[in-house]
Amino acid sequence: MESIVIRKKFFDFFINRGHEKVSSSSLIPVQDPTLLFTNAGMNQFKDVFLGIEKRTYSKAVSIQKCMRAGGKHNDLDNVGFTSRHLTFFEMMGNFSFGDYFKNEAIEYAWEFLTQNLLIDSKVLLVTVFDDDDESFNIWHKIIGLKTEKIYKLGAAENFWQMGDTGPCGPCTEILVDRGVNYGCGKQTCTPGCPCDRFMEIWNNVFMQYDRQANGELIPLKQTGVDTGMGIERLCMIMQNKDSVFETDLFDPIIKKIEELTNTTYAKQSERTKAAFHVIADHIRASCFLIADGCSPANEGRGYVLRKIIRRAALFEQKLIEKSMFSELASTVINKMGPIYPELIINEQIIKSILKSEIDKFASNLIRGRNILEQYLEENKNTRIITGLQAFKLYDTFGFPLEIIEAAAKEQGYNVDIIDFETQMNKQKESSGKKMKNLEEIKIDESIITEFIGYKELKNKSEVIAIIRDNSIESKISGGQTGWIITKQSPFFVETGGQVSDKGWIEIKGQIIEILDLKKIGKAIGIKIKVPFQINISDEVISIVDSEFRINTMKNHTATHLLQAALIELLGKQVKQSGSVVTPDYLRFDFTYHRNLTLEEIQQVENIVNRKITENIPLNIYYTNYKDAVNKGVIAIFGEKYNPDNVRVIDIAGFSAELCGGTHVFRTGDIGSFKITEVSALSAGNRRIVALTGPKSLELFQNNFNIVKHLSQEFKIKSEQVIDSIKKQKDQIKELQIKINKAKKQFWLSQIPKWSQKIEEVNKIPFLFLGLEDYDNADLKEIVMELNDKKSALYFIISNFENASNFICIIPEEFKNKISLKAFNDWLKKECNLHGGGKDNIIQGGGQSFDASLEEKIKNWFKTNTK
Ligand code: SER
Repeated sequence: MESIVIRKKFFDFFINRGHEKVSSSSLIPVQDPTLLFTNAGMNQFKDVFLGIEKRTYSKAVSIQKCMRAGGKHNDLDNVGFTSRHLTFFEMMGNFSFGDYFKNEAIEYAWEFLTQNLLIDSKVLLVTVFDDDDESFNIWHKIIGLKTEKIYKLGAAENFWQMGDTGPCGPCTEILVDRGVNYGCGKQTCTPGCPCDRFMEIWNNVFMQYDRQANGELIPLKQTGVDTGMGIERLCMIMQNKDSVFETDLFDPIIKKIEELTNTTYAKQSERTKAAFHVIADHIRASCFLIADGCSPANEGRGYVLRKIIRRAALFEQKLIEKSMFSELASTVINKMGPIYPELIINEQIIKSILKSEIDKFASNLIRGRNILEQYLEENKNTRIITGLQAFKLYDTFGFPLEIIEAAAKEQGYNVDIIDFETQMNKQKESSGKKMKNLEEIKIDESIITEFIGYKELKNKSEVIAIIRDNSIESKISGGQTGWIITKQSPFFVETGGQVSDKGWIEIKGQIIEILDLKKIGKAIGIKIKVPFQINISDEVISIVDSEFRINTMKNHTATHLLQAALIELLGKQVKQSGSVVTPDYLRFDFTYHRNLTLEEIQQVENIVNRKITENIPLNIYYTNYKDAVNKGVIAIFGEKYNPDNVRVIDIAGFSAELCGGTHVFRTGDIGSFKITEVSALSAGNRRIVALTGPKSLELFQNNFNIVKHLSQEFKIKSEQVIDSIKKQKDQIKELQIKINKAKKQFWLSQIPKWSQKIEEVNKIPFLFLGLEDYDNADLKEIVMELNDKKSALYFIISNFENASNFICIIPEEFKNKISLKAFNDWLKKECNLHGGGKDNIIQGGGQSFDASLEEKIKNWFKTNTK
């Protein structure tokens, strides 16, 4: 049964049972800082499980793109070496939010597998959480499984949680017994054994708790069901294959690798097959990550992508000399594009990022590999790569630790990880990088601030909570710093790239500056240092710094106009990949495969300025997500929106975006728009920095003044300034050539006179020559010319632009009598002249010299000749 049929059967089964079909969310969970990548189908429903968010449905079905290559769930190290582990995979799941619970969940799963897919129930067995007798009984009494087919396991196997915090609960897993041939043969080989025999295919989690940062389990207001079944593993069973890599999902990629490497997968050793697997998995992961807006970087998600690409580069060396990795992208896009159109839309970017990342790493890969081989040889006895060695590979050659470990493991070596970390910390300390200590504050969900800052910049409200040193207080005393929370607040807290407001609060007639603003649960925290005691219920007037806010609003609306202008000019491939909106400037990062030309930049500016001049009123309204997206409103890929209530910023006929930021009333309020910087962030990612309103006016005035000044200075019209500067530059060049010629003629005429001044110092012919206005190159020519006439020990120094240059040469025959190295050291110490070179010539410079130098140098030679 092909994967496409399995997909359809799965959706049909649950849609027929009243489940809403929900599309996969992005692999990049932008809104959830606790998560590196989307790692399960339930991620996009996290807040629904927690009861924070309501949906129009209580049952859902999805097939979710997942990555398990970092964070709590990480399978990266296993990929390639087992038949079933993947970094990127698709998870089929059905969900209940306060609707059905254990009974139906177990019945649905069993029915789908045994009656729809017709998997022989004899090969299936299940595990349940140790003390979950209820699930045990459902399997035994309702489904009719014999007790010897139901295994009770501990929390490691049968208690599932998304991350270190968040929704979690006991689970029951359905496993396929693939037979003793797939097992490790050990007596202990039962479900839970990591070998390939008992393969988990479906996990049914019964969501019951919200795990807190301190480990505490708080019961959820309503229970739920979260299930997950990897489509790749199910395909393996349904297609009767030995590994996920033999299913129709991977088949085209394996075939393409065979074609490019001119090898046959089936005939390869297990080690070579592992390379096929790693490459096949990693190309899928890379394509999907890039399509969702991730690009290689040195930290965070981007670093995981970089690691994956580099790991693939290392393994593909076993199959082929020149990298084929980026060539495999088309195969992934052809196979998966019909289901995930983002792959097709981003095809160019995917290919160019992969190619440039592989190219960048190529030379380091070869050099690093050689060094690694040298280490393996050196450490034959210990069979350990030391922390320092691993750190060198990491720091100098960009080998991620996981790659070093994989390469070492292959040869039966271990890496001293603890020492590696020590080295890493040492470097961090020396470079002054300190981990940020994020203040974690939790408050009751009933403490809510109403944000009124879209309409008002000043308001009177009362204090409803006080937090100091991470604990809730009823008062805060004079002189102390802490957070107060008011019932209503006009203060905007940093979100969606827009910076937090600045401002003041007025309390008991005294104005206090705000030190920081922060979202604390559903409230707005205002950090202040209080002059006197503040209590709950005190009246507070909040005042937003209106200039700061209004300038920020101008930049925010201009960012929307900029995005629309880029799309109008360059097409729909332009996708926002980041933004920063401040009162002083705006920064917009977007996906596009090449640099913009000067003409295009100007066109973008023109479009935005035209829209500003049109003075279009902004229409800001709320609707549901589906309607907004159907109308073509731009949503940021990967951002999590409330499906029932989204805010649309509509600039009629030109731009419509989902956004929670603050905006001007009419586009004319922006004043004007000027791009000041366009740069490439990485292949496929560009950045524009621009100014609006007073800042762009300031720029214009400054530039105008500069040009005016120049035109007065050159006594020409402003429009002639550039031509005039160019002309003057050419003239200077010509003059310089003439001066140099004249200078050379002069010093050439002096050579006979200078030669005559050569005297003997300890029987060595010696000349000290002190000159003015000669640079290093001149001195070299002069000394060569002199030496042609007569071989001698020459020391020539010339003052030049407030410093000096010098050169010293010694004839071959006297090299053993005088050490230029010792002379060089002395010059540095005693004369502040810094030079370097060989044993017969040194050259350098330092402070300007004076007449006393000649005597000093002559003396040194006199006393230091052997
Ligand atoms: N969240 C559970 C898992 O990932 C079930 O979907 O296994």
